[in-house]
Amino acid sequence: MTTRSSGGCPFGHSAEDKRAPEGAIPMRDDTSAQASGLQTAASSAVTSAASPAASAPSGEAIVREESAQLDFSRDMSYGDYLGLDTLLTSQHPLSPDPNELLFIVQHQTSELWMKLLLSELTAARACIARDDLPPAFKMLARVSRIFDQLISAWNVLATMTPPEYSAMRPYLAQSSGFQSFQYREIEFCLGNKNAAMLAPHAHRPDLHARVAQAFATPSIYDESLRLLARRGLTLPAAALERDWTQPYRAHAGVEAAWLTVYRTPDKYWDCYQLGEKLTDIEDAFRQWRFRHVTTVERVIGFKRGTGGTGGVSYLRKMLDTVLFPELWTLRTAL
Ligand code: HEM
Repeated sequence: MTTRSSGGCPFGHSAEDKRAPEGAIPMRDDTSAQASGLQTAASSAVTSAASPAASAPSGEAIVREESAQLDFSRDMSYGDYLGLDTLLTSQHPLSPDPNELLFIVQHQTSELWMKLLLSELTAARACIARDDLPPAFKMLARVSRIFDQLISAWNVLATMTPPEYSAMRPYLAQSSGFQSFQYREIEFCLGNKNAAMLAPHAHRPDLHARVAQAFATPSIYDESLRLLARRGLTLPAAALERDWTQPYRAHAGVEAAWLTVYRTPDKYWDCYQLGEKLTDIEDAFRQWRFRHVTTVERVIGFKRGTGGTGGVSYLRKMLDTVLFPELWTLRTAL
């Protein structure tokens, strides 16, 4: 049984970590017969070198010379730290089709990235709410890069052919990404509020509570508008205090405030930067939606979705979602 040590990086070792644990294979600087035997083997390899390949130390010698820790009977290993036993035994294909593993891994990795995205996004929103923009910018940049990851992941799923999907389709039953609670939390945090999207989580009070909280909390855009007001820009009262469960509605007064920022960036530099970071995120989200609907059309054509919607017809409607409307309309007015 492995014991877990507290703190420290499992991928590298501090100087004090280099003490050989009891029972560990001796390190290179140990005076044991095994270590000197290794040195002898390595130096004879060098002296008998006829070609660079022949002179190269063996892989085994390199590992030992580098003092890599090899015994984890008492220390936390990479797999222990990452919970790989759980992670790598959480793929349970239901069909006999080997392509189902791709489908599961693609969804699971997307959920992992969404977990990180959500954590960064909500932390950025909290920073904006307390007027601390530099860390928010760093987090929002990471959110955009995570979206890049999610967007490029569609290339892997696009290798799934219609017959491959059809072979496992009956085994999916009614399960669909439509029921992803993390995706709804992200959408709500970005301001796409829709009360109907709470219903799929009613059977799980724990998840429903999470999604409901995201639903009732001001979005990152709501908090950004409140920040603009604190910076002295004039914003309509309706944008600053409202029922946060309602979808955001574009307002001429909000566009006027953003226009001031974009016309005088030197005066409102960080607000200007915030506007562009939010635009980056909406831009990336649109690309994700587009790659999703295109992949879906490629794989299932115009068949209905497992979640019960019309499929591509539903996803195309979602392409029209606008999260931060004035950040787009201001560009025409500039
Ligand atoms: C071949 C693979 C896929 C197919 C055929 C597919 C199909 C669909 C369809 C038809 C919908 C509409 C709801 C429904 O009736 O089911 C949907 C929604 C959704 N899917 Fe996928 N999907 C695939 C892959 C993925 C992946 C990899 C993810 C990543 C997590 C994902 C996430 C979502 C989400 C979040 C929604 C809800 C979108 C919204 O409500 O705006 N899908 N999918």
